[in-house]
Amino acid sequence: MAIGRVLQEEIQEAVEALRAGELVAFPTETVYGLGANANNPDAVRKIFRAKNRPTTHPVIVHIDHPRYLQRWVREMSPEAKKLADAFWPGPLTLVAKRAPAVNDVITGGQDTVAIRVPNHPVAQQLLNAFGGGSAAPSANRYGQLSPTRAEHVREEFGDEIKFVLDGGDCKVGLESTIVSCIGDGPRVLRPGSITLSQLRAVVPTIQSGPNPNAPRVPGTTTRHYSPVTPVNVVPSRRLEQVMNEFTDNHEKVAVLAQRPPGRANPYMTWINAGIRPDAYARQLYANLRTLDKAAAKVILVEELPLGEKWDAVRDRVKRAATAENIVTYDQDIAAWVADYGEEGGPS
Ligand code: TXA
Ligand code: MG
Repeated sequence: MAIGRVLQEEIQEAVEALRAGELVAFPTETVYGLGANANNPDAVRKIFRAKNRPTTHPVIVHIDHPRYLQRWVREMSPEAKKLADAFWPGPLTLVAKRAPAVNDVITGGQDTVAIRVPNHPVAQQLLNAFGGGSAAPSANRYGQLSPTRAEHVREEFGDEIKFVLDGGDCKVGLESTIVSCIGDGPRVLRPGSITLSQLRAVVPTIQSGPNPNAPRVPGTTTRHYSPVTPVNVVPSRRLEQVMNEFTDNHEKVAVLAQRPPGRANPYMTWINAGIRPDAYARQLYANLRTLDKAAAKVILVEELPLGEKWDAVRDRVKRAATAENIVTYDQDIAAWVADYGEEGGPS
């Protein structure tokens, strides 16, 4: 039986690879994940090596159904339960107190674990046949754009990752909404396609943004963000003017806009990503990859509309635009995450 482009035999091979401690890249509705058996610390360590990701950055555990929750989570708050009921399977990750057996390599040594039930037929089949949890960050090298197509994973890892299940284009295209359900009440750590109002319709007390009570912990990590081409966000009315400042000097410019270009210009690569937030989000990473390949001096992103439907897209564009930015953090990821909502950038 074929599930999209993935055959049943491929699922079986991928399950065997997971059992053998190998890595398997698989599609979810958000982005592609780089999976390992979450019960095998050596396998999970391979993810960190392949991605070149600092070991202090915790990873999400994926399961096919909440029936396996108690293996990973020792306590689900009433709020967490409501959110799980409302949005799983789906693009929501919950952070809860970890079960005793969860390895430190997954949690970054914290007392919490992030868990998600993805809603993608291939992910569902894989996790179901595997029967356990799969630790899976986005299947990109640390600091690069998340992959939304199997070919993005292959481009980035080549032969290093033998198993890449091809489930076509991810429908959501942005990483899951992360809600922490520990400490002083539920809080959105990373915006995603599930909006704050949708979350609040289920749990009205949900907060978003940095936690004012969490101390900031200074540290020493330099982060470099992709795309490699610097990204600038430009107000709509100034877009052509800023572009012309480059192209008049015969410098190439790549543009991610929400409308077609005013007139033709041989030095510009222009993508009209449209005005619908869902469609914009779905194509965002693929578009940035395309524009990054244009060998342009700069990528100009037309400033995005306000409003919560654009929150997640605005968040990712802002992070992409923080090129060469230096962010600091320390072992205390909890404080860091609370302060910055995830680890301050793509991972
Ligand atoms: O949509 C997604 O969430 C994708 C797909 C593959 O599921 N995964 C993903 O993973 O985006 P990753 O590793 O790129 O991002 C996971 C984020 C990181 O920012 C990490 O710091 C945070 O989740 N995280 C993981 N465990 C956590 C924990 N115990 N407490 C707080 N944040 C946590
Ligand atoms: Mg990531």
